[in-house]
Amino acid sequence: MSLFRLDASILPGSSASRALADLVESEWTSAHPDSSVTRRDLAADPVPATAWADAVTGGFIDEAQRTRAQVEARALATRFADELIGADALLFAVPLYNYGVSQHFKTWFDLAYTDPRIDPTGTALRGKPATLVTVLGGNYAPGTPKEGWDHSTGWLRRVLEDVWGLDLRVVERPFTLVGVNPALDAFTDVARELKESAESNARTFGQELAALRGSAA
Ligand SMILES: Cc1cc2nc3c(=O)[nH]c(=O)nc-3n(C[C@H](O)[C@H](O)[C@H](O)COP(=O)(O)O)c2cc1C
Repeated sequence: MSLFRLDASILPGSSASRALADLVESEWTSAHPDSSVTRRDLAADPVPATAWADAVTGGFIDEAQRTRAQVEARALATRFADELIGADALLFAVPLYNYGVSQHFKTWFDLAYTDPRIDPTGTALRGKPATLVTVLGGNYAPGTPKEGWDHSTGWLRRVLEDVWGLDLRVVERPFTLVGVNPALDAFTDVARELKESAESNARTFGQELAALRGSAA
């Protein structure tokens, strides 16, 4: 058995997304003690911003004509796709940054998506069980002042669930900046409840991930 885990927090020492992903992973490891875990830390080992264009343009020309950069970018895409396809289950931990998706995750996703085995119709990932952990400093729930400003979570769901066809569960923890930003002190109680709820979901979805729910079971 094998788990692929991706982290995108740029502050690993205090990361709420890592802490929740650790709960998911520990449920997986309890159920599969002999499992291997393949890790990709996008903050520690970022994907070069030029790789995606090199992989795409390299695909438009014959192999013999490709530049070194195009060859290397396509090899990296193959490695990313191998990691995804070779795992029995997938775990992604991706924070909200600047009201949008983490640039590290977007760069990784775009490059992995150039691999011809991962496409919207015959994707090699369809039905694979996956858990997305996402954390937000603020709260964008309906009725809040910044409702509609979270342009990360919806996109992550679309590409992982609908485009790649993963059997996805989402653990979401808003208000991680409560206790960090004094302007949010009024939300201490609700933030504690949201944290506890996210931790509970992380354990439940971790157990479901370990049970290989869905069509990949
Ligand atoms: C550079 C930067 C930009 C951020 N932008 C936003 C934002 O636009 N909206 C928000 O709600 N939180 C924002 N945050 C807060 C993070 O989403 C929050 O701290 C989250 O917990 C980070 O994930 P981590 O704890 O796993 O590192 C930002 C944090 C950083 C460091």
